[in-house]
Amino acid sequence: MEADATFDRVSAKYILAKRHEVLSQGIHDQQQSNGECHEDLLTSHMKLDTTKYELLNPSGDKFLRDTILAFNLAGRDTTASALSWFFWLLSENPRVVTKIRQEIITNISLHGQDNLDKLVYLQAALYESMRLYPPVPFQRKSPIKPDLLPSGHKVEANSTIMIFLYALGRMRAVWGEDAMEFKPERWVS
Ligand code: HEM
Repeated sequence: MEADATFDRVSAKYILAKRHEVLSQGIHDQQQSNGECHEDLLTSHMKLDTTKYELLNPSGDKFLRDTILAFNLAGRDTTASALSWFFWLLSENPRVVTKIRQEIITNISLHGQDNLDKLVYLQAALYESMRLYPPVPFQRKSPIKPDLLPSGHKVEANSTIMIFLYALGRMRAVWGEDAMEFKPERWVS
């Protein structure tokens, strides 16, 4: 398939570039020997000792190519959906925009060091947005052996359990009478 070939080509380019980067960084790390390490996803998979995992059988760069594809599929539409609903909710709730803006002005300086940990209200607004509009609205899990759920329900091996995150996020019994309202404050203790 044409798309498949394109993806192979683009992935191979990234893998090669990253291999060079990791190689030169390795030398750099030895020289610096500082404890701090911020690895990106591709680097951490490159350094993975895949012999330790019996289900992984990497041949050439296929494992890395498949990993890049998985991250693209897992991370692209989820992030797009989360941000689309977030900005739509902001457009409907100018009060929240004012509070986020205020928090940013107070905590982030243009030339100083960013302190993203201080943006508590912004984080709460993102949580609240994903509570009402979860990018993954339901999930499916299967136990490999019979088990007992915290609720007391018995589940058989290989049975399918559906978890409706969309409904869970809107349950009055969990969130209160204002469950349908967009209120980031509910996340700030
Ligand atoms: C707002 C953004 C995102 C949402 C809402 C989201 C949601 C989820 C959910 C619900 C799961 C399943 C968790 C489970 O079964 O317990 C999951 C798994 C996963 N996500 Fe995301 N995700 C997001 C962003 C990303 C990004 C940016 C990446 C990678 C670049 C990513 C990579 C993965 C991977 C690899 C898994 C499988 C983890 C595992 O079971 O080993 N996700 N994500």
